[in-house]
Amino acid sequence: MKALHLGLTNFRNYIQQELTFGDGVNVVYGDNAQGKTNILEAVYFFAMGKSIRAKRDIELINHNADSAKISLEFSDSMRTNILEAELFRDKRKQITANEVPIRKNSELVRRFNVVYFGPEYLGLVKEGPSIRRKNLDVLISQIKPGYISSLTEMKRIVESKNSILKMDNPNLTLLGIMNEKLAAVSANIIIYRSLFLDKIERLAQEIQNDISNGAEKLEMKYKSCIGNVCGMDLKTIEDALINKIKESQARELNLRETVVGPHREDIEFFVNGYEAKTYASQGQQKTIVMAEKLAEVALMNSETGDMPVLLLDDIMSEFDKSRREYILGDIGKTQIIITCTDVDGLNVPEDTCRIYVENGRAEVV
Ligand SMILES: Nc1ncnc2c1ncn2[C@@H]1O[C@H](COP(=O)(O)OP(=O)(O)OP(=O)(O)O)[C@@H](O)[C@H]1O
Ligand SMILES: [Mg+2]
Repeated sequence: MKALHLGLTNFRNYIQQELTFGDGVNVVYGDNAQGKTNILEAVYFFAMGKSIRAKRDIELINHNADSAKISLEFSDSMRTNILEAELFRDKRKQITANEVPIRKNSELVRRFNVVYFGPEYLGLVKEGPSIRRKNLDVLISQIKPGYISSLTEMKRIVESKNSILKMDNPNLTLLGIMNEKLAAVSANIIIYRSLFLDKIERLAQEIQNDISNGAEKLEMKYKSCIGNVCGMDLKTIEDALINKIKESQARELNLRETVVGPHREDIEFFVNGYEAKTYASQGQQKTIVMAEKLAEVALMNSETGDMPVLLLDDIMSEFDKSRREYILGDIGKTQIIITCTDVDGLNVPEDTCRIYVENGRAEVV
């Protein structure tokens, strides 16, 4: 998969921008606050139908405009496609794929796939669990049909359940119905998370092994609220969830929120058997994230038959020379878009497409 051409109108600090990407490594460089990450944000938008960082689409519209437009021409193994989005301050966004309107995100996702690695992911090992869940969910959403709809459904049920739990006299019959719905959709999410984490673990293990010259064995474990789900089928998970929810009912009523479900689960990383969050050095933790991200690229390729576009936002300077070379050397035919403030020292290939960004203008130089 290759991003070919990006068009921006009133997107963040870009008033009007056309940009053609190179096939291999692209380096978007310039001083701070000029619009480098904004380029990655626009590309990522078409993978997930939303921004990597903004909570609301409205933030993407230029301060002095009422609407914004983004378009992306990309190629996959079949053909060239065009995705277009128009964002408004006062109404819903409109997205089209090859000129056909897209009604919901589940119709957009899996057309154009990316792996995004930015500074916020450097804390993947040691920060709170939400970034680890998000990371895995973004990956699976781009691979498995229906997964993103299950996530949306799960979040909707948790919200409804929370509003019931917040009432003075919660209706227990209604709560029971919600619990059954939650268990059914959650079992689906948990089984995929556990399955895909296993696949990522195997690939990341090889990478970590390579980088550490065989010294570090990386392991990842899915920490479900029902314990170890390894080898369990859908029905067993659903039954275990129902039991766990029943067991936790008094606590949920007391706390007035849903505490059992995939929205509270986590992933643990281990190096040579020791929990990485507690024992791995900062550099080791970063290497784990790098191995995990490169594993995502390989997994997406093997699962979809197409390489995702790798978006690296300002993270190259976090790694030593050998790790930077590993990132650039490992990916072969993957298209990469890197942002940085200083292109020298990156050891990028000769044929790198260099894109200079200054004050909301990008130019291939
Ligand atoms: N809605 C908006 N309208 C206009 N300008 C915006 C909007 N949102 C963000 N900006 C501007 O975009 C610029 C930030 O762009 P971006 O995050 O891409 O910077 P960057 O080049 O990646 O910088 P850094 O090197 O610090 O990461 C800032 O100048 C910010 O004020
Ligand atoms: Mg930036």
